[in-house]
Amino acid sequence: MSVLVTGGTGYIGSHTVVELINAGYEVVIVDNYINSKPEVLDAIQTITGKKPRFYNLDVIDKVGLKKVFQENKIDQVIHFAGLKAVGESVSKPLEYYRNNIDSTLSLLEVMKEFSVKNLVFSSSATVYGEENDFPYVETMRLGTPTSPYGKTKLFIEMILKDVNHANPELNVAVLRYFNPIGAHPSGLIGEDPQGLPNNLMPYITRVAAGKLDTLHVFGNDYPTQDGTCERDYIHVVDLALGHLAALKKLESHPGFVVYNLGTGKGISVLELIHDFEDVNHLKLNYVIDKRRPGDLPAYWADASKAKRELNWETKLTAKDACRDSWNWEKHNSGK
Ligand code: WQD
Repeated sequence: MSVLVTGGTGYIGSHTVVELINAGYEVVIVDNYINSKPEVLDAIQTITGKKPRFYNLDVIDKVGLKKVFQENKIDQVIHFAGLKAVGESVSKPLEYYRNNIDSTLSLLEVMKEFSVKNLVFSSSATVYGEENDFPYVETMRLGTPTSPYGKTKLFIEMILKDVNHANPELNVAVLRYFNPIGAHPSGLIGEDPQGLPNNLMPYITRVAAGKLDTLHVFGNDYPTQDGTCERDYIHVVDLALGHLAALKKLESHPGFVVYNLGTGKGISVLELIHDFEDVNHLKLNYVIDKRRPGDLPAYWADASKAKRELNWETKLTAKDACRDSWNWEKHNSGK
């Protein structure tokens, strides 16, 4: 019996595949490399001693997807595959709606055809929108994400809820999280954005490595502790283990369940910068710049439900993530 991981050579996907293999699962990956590289498969093999079966295809491709299910006994799926750049989604909404929603519909149709009943969906805390007060809890009415990217996550959650309602034998775990950071302690896999990083941590590591000149802190006049935005930064290895905990939960046939995965607290941009400098014994070149449109001052999640029901909580700290991201940047990022 195998777990199918769509987007399994991506940042969160690859870390989840490592933990799945370490936990004794057989893994099959489907990925089109739109945001990853073939070298990730070799890295997974180096870390775990096993190379997962791999299909280079787009999840939208139902013919290709059927072949995967015909050639492997898939009994659970973790669905990461999707476009995920918030800013890009604003300029390319059609591409995001087509890709992220169609690929999920194709996956659900093929899962139904092969009677595969357990799905973990990688969603995003962005579905809480701006209307809700933080810390966000799963019972809140969902908001209206500002980006088409966030809306695809919201729409997919709604689709999954409706499909589960019509097919109660389908078990779905929706996982909502914010800002994954860090890398596997081996330094062999990590966040490897192509081109100029949008997210904070890869920008920090590339400035530290001298690949970029200066980190621009987008605003220090927010109503927060030090004026810079606060976020719930979660170590990607903790996040991967959260996906395994959700997979386990589905074995008890819970139906449609939702969990926040996070630390439950916010860290500011300046705090993360200072953590990075302290733990790696270096000074970062940064300047305070104007605000980035669309940024919210602060948000984070209440992850107590995952603790109660999945027996999962974060174990690694932001400093662990700063150490591991720097280790990844020094040894492998961008290769
Ligand atoms: C974090 C903070 C920036 C870069 C996004 C998506 C969210 C999720 C995670 C998928 C903010 C500041 C950043 C820089 C900076 N993705 N920053 N200089 O925007 O919180 O969340 O990624 O689910 O959906 O919205 O992440 O890393 O871009 O920014 O000052 O060069 O760092 O202003 O306050 P964000 P981020």
